[in-house]
Amino acid sequence: MNRRRVLTTGVTTLISILLLGCGKEDIQKSGMGGMQSGSGNDVQQLGYSPFSKPLAIPALAQYSVDAQGYKVFHLNIQEGTTQFFDGIATRTYGINTNILGETIRIHNGDKVKLVYTNHLSEPTTMHGHGMHVPAIMDGGPINKIQPGSSWSAKYRVNQKAATNWYHPHLMGATARQVYQGLAGFIIVDDYESDGMNLPHQYGVDDIPLAIQDKRFDANGQIVYAPNMMEVRMGYRSNTMLANGVIQPYVEVSAKKVRFRMLNGSNSSVYQLKFSDNRTFTQIGVDNSFLEHPVSENSVTLTPGERADIVVDFTRKKGDVVTLVNDATGAKIMQIRVTKDATNISNIPQTLTALSYEDPASAVRTRQFVLNMATGSDGRMHMAINGKLMDLARIDEYVPKDEVEIWEITNTMGLTHNFHIHSTHFFPLTRNGVAVPPNERGYKDVIALPPSSTVRVLVKMTDYVDEKTGYMYHCHFLEHEDDGMMGQFAVTSGRSETNVRP
Ligand code: C2O
Ligand code: CU
Ligand code: CU
Repeated sequence: MNRRRVLTTGVTTLISILLLGCGKEDIQKSGMGGMQSGSGNDVQQLGYSPFSKPLAIPALAQYSVDAQGYKVFHLNIQEGTTQFFDGIATRTYGINTNILGETIRIHNGDKVKLVYTNHLSEPTTMHGHGMHVPAIMDGGPINKIQPGSSWSAKYRVNQKAATNWYHPHLMGATARQVYQGLAGFIIVDDYESDGMNLPHQYGVDDIPLAIQDKRFDANGQIVYAPNMMEVRMGYRSNTMLANGVIQPYVEVSAKKVRFRMLNGSNSSVYQLKFSDNRTFTQIGVDNSFLEHPVSENSVTLTPGERADIVVDFTRKKGDVVTLVNDATGAKIMQIRVTKDATNISNIPQTLTALSYEDPASAVRTRQFVLNMATGSDGRMHMAINGKLMDLARIDEYVPKDEVEIWEITNTMGLTHNFHIHSTHFFPLTRNGVAVPPNERGYKDVIALPPSSTVRVLVKMTDYVDEKTGYMYHCHFLEHEDDGMMGQFAVTSGRSETNVRP
């Protein structure tokens, strides 16, 4: 049995090596999330059986309103233990809880103050992924929170309804801290989403779903120890978790159910589908609703991407269906339709109107090439435009209110993606072909299969700070920590002198 595992590991490594070299995979079909470079201990040996624990629903974070009208949330970043396996207390990190974090639910126009207190024995930061906020409130690597101290993100919510999330962003430690459990949802509502008749009972028929995978050692502890190959290929596992529970089940009523799915993994690409291949409706992407719902039976998410979907279980009482990652065949969660219900929700044919600029109005095209560069240690690391991340260097100056095309090229034989802070972008093409309908929304992460080029429209708005960088990076966390990240500052603009020569 051990021999079989050794053999399997050998074969997967071989496949990994082969895949490193081969260039053009189709994003839907490829093994871009397909191969695993070893999956750690077999969780079955730790006494785990699939679909035996209920899905956890993160509690909604409580807030008070201060004298200035700010909604104040107290968010404690803390160590704790989680029972993944009977009789084993696994050490984890969480925010106001033992693993993952409470859901921060806020409304467009709200004044909010997110007070993060670091109770860990190491520094961290807390970034609002997808939040359109001033650079100094972004929670990036510069907003370091030392053990025992607090840092607050204070701003007015200024964006459309979206399912965002928060997670650490400490230089070189993001991957490990996220892996240990630090991540939570930020749900932004707006008047438009308030008025829609979508499923909206939080945790009942409107379910946030953070999908991750983890490796455990023989003692049931989380292991984060990527070797050089795993930094490159991604630190992955076939042990799937939803909301911090290994392969849970969830009971729903026979009606439409909304899942706000987040790929919260370090480096896995998930091709999400249901075991019976049923059709579902995608209504939203990273940073907005889609203008029109898209019917599909599979959705691919690279790390950091979100898909807001509605599954229709009307008159399906008794159905048992499994959410799977088609890239590996790994089962994520079982859904049991156990209760009758009258369905009163509906999905409008027009969900929202997005404003996007005419690509012809772009004043410049900015190039980002994902490649490798030699570090100070003399080794090759993941880089952007031949440069490794340097907090002391602003790489790009982007004038406010100017429409730009960002052209991102992945020159490598493995998959990356590209994430932007500060704002969303609007994807135009991948390899010269218009992106599929389920990517035509406000996105903040875009997938880059091996040897591909993506063009997106970007316009910085509202916040100028010529000294403070926002990040752009590959959201495969091993790559990000290895150096595949850069910084841009938003300038007051309308002057070519602000543009890097
Ligand atoms: Cu999800 Cu720079 O982050
Ligand atoms: Cu982000
Ligand atoms: Cu990458």
